Amino acid sequence: MSRVLVLNGPNLGRLGSREPDVYGSQDLPALQALLEADAAGRIAIDLRQTNDEAELIGWLYEAVDTATPVILNPAAFTHYSYALRDAAALVTKAGIPLVEVHISNPHTREVFRHTSVISGIASGVIAGFGFGSYRLALQSLLLPEA
Ligand code: DQA
Repeated sequence: MSRVLVLNGPNLGRLGSREPDVYGSQDLPALQALLEADAAGRIAIDLRQTNDEAELIGWLYEAVDTATPVILNPAAFTHYSYALRDAAALVTKAGIPLVEVHISNPHTREVFRHTSVISGIASGVIAGFGFGSYRLALQSLLLPEA
């Protein structure tokens, strides 16, 4: 494992100014720096963001084709995108880890956020720890095989 894809869905490009009471005041470059510090050269951090469902699906195909583990914050797609779920299932069905992460804890928020169509096919789910959710996901990928 030499690289991890850290994929971020819609509106996460606005982190830093978007609802700081919910998502904090740090942006994606700050997240990249945090994850690189945690990785300490053990794994390359390939962090991306898109508002485009098709592009996100294409990146999941890339994960399958290159056997690259994924940390995925599907953002609002979490709650309704069966197309994203099907693409994410290709990753985990291929035996490649995919960790679903959320900055906030969706279960404490509006009812529509309580449903994730992704969780059922994810390797694991981490939510509610701010950028710590991504850091914990990275740690889970770096754990030695049980
Ligand atoms: C989010 C939670 C989602 O409900 C929301 O649509 C987001 C961000 C989170 O990281 O807490 O855009 O995935």
